[in-house]
Amino acid sequence: MIKEIAAQDLDTKSFIAEKVADIRSTVGDGWAINALSGGVDSSVVTMLGHLALGDKLKTIFVQNGLMRAGEAEQVTGFFRDLGVAVEVVDARDEFFAALKGVTDPEAKREAITQTFYREVFGRLVRESGAKHLLQGTILTDVDETVAGIKRQHNVFEQLGIDPQEVFGYKILEPLIRLRKDGVRKVGEAVGLPKELFDRIPFPGPGLAARVIGEATPERIEIVREATRTMEPHLEGFGAFQYLAVLHEDRVTGMRDGSRDFGMQIEVRCWDSLDARTATPTRVPFEVLEKMAKDIIAAVPGVVSVTYNIATKPPSTIEVV
Ligand code: XMP
Repeated sequence: MIKEIAAQDLDTKSFIAEKVADIRSTVGDGWAINALSGGVDSSVVTMLGHLALGDKLKTIFVQNGLMRAGEAEQVTGFFRDLGVAVEVVDARDEFFAALKGVTDPEAKREAITQTFYREVFGRLVRESGAKHLLQGTILTDVDETVAGIKRQHNVFEQLGIDPQEVFGYKILEPLIRLRKDGVRKVGEAVGLPKELFDRIPFPGPGLAARVIGEATPERIEIVREATRTMEPHLEGFGAFQYLAVLHEDRVTGMRDGSRDFGMQIEVRCWDSLDARTATPTRVPFEVLEKMAKDIIAAVPGVVSVTYNIATKPPSTIEVV
């Protein structure tokens, strides 16, 4: 049982000092490696690792083909400004090969997990000689996995999986006792810019968590374009998270006066403190209308845009 540190009880200064010391003593004279996605969890871990290990930490941005538009450039740019070098590793082909033909949600998550930890990181760890992987697992990831709601891509020990045995390296999880609000506090204290510590969450499986059915490069591109179009409309409402989803079912629509059996995009926008429960944000209808129009104009073949008004539970934040 992991003991939670609630955000209001968190003393960020002593938390940072303790985690930096822990990482330093565990890694010792060796090397460590970490994957930065640009989400607040992996960004905070990158900074803690950087403070603890300096050049003995190798930070990788895995281009898995499932990121939002421009994400790799944007994230590596922020870290360059913070003095942290980030290497981009292009693994798009590997991820799409693993996702080919996979439609079941848990099987999709498993394909991404295996590609990430076994293939891509297995190789990077072997090549770099690192013995430790630092990662930003938080308590909510563990809770949902253990409860059997959703297998989060980054949870192992609590499922009885020993990463050392299975992947050949140890995993350090300095944020495991925190929830998102606590992580943001540490992010601010550790010197991340607001764009990073206040960034809306984005899941490890990326846009594949937002495509129902097979996540092909083409379908990912559709949801990427819908996301790019939708985000600016919803960013001003203080929401916890907002996202676009590509449905598998097609619906009859019409375009230029003829029948168009087209695609459906669902938009979700959530108010939440820590992702355990969430309610839909009460976005003004005019904003939703404008957003729908823009999505239909930007993404060819879309004939329907819906806004989710269910709560979590029974919904979850992502659809896969
Ligand atoms: P759900 O969809 O379970 O999401 O309500 C709760 C929060 O977790 C994020 N999420 C993930 N984060 N790996 C992650 O690192 C995952 O596999 C994963 N799945 C969901 C989700 O975006 C939300 O903020």
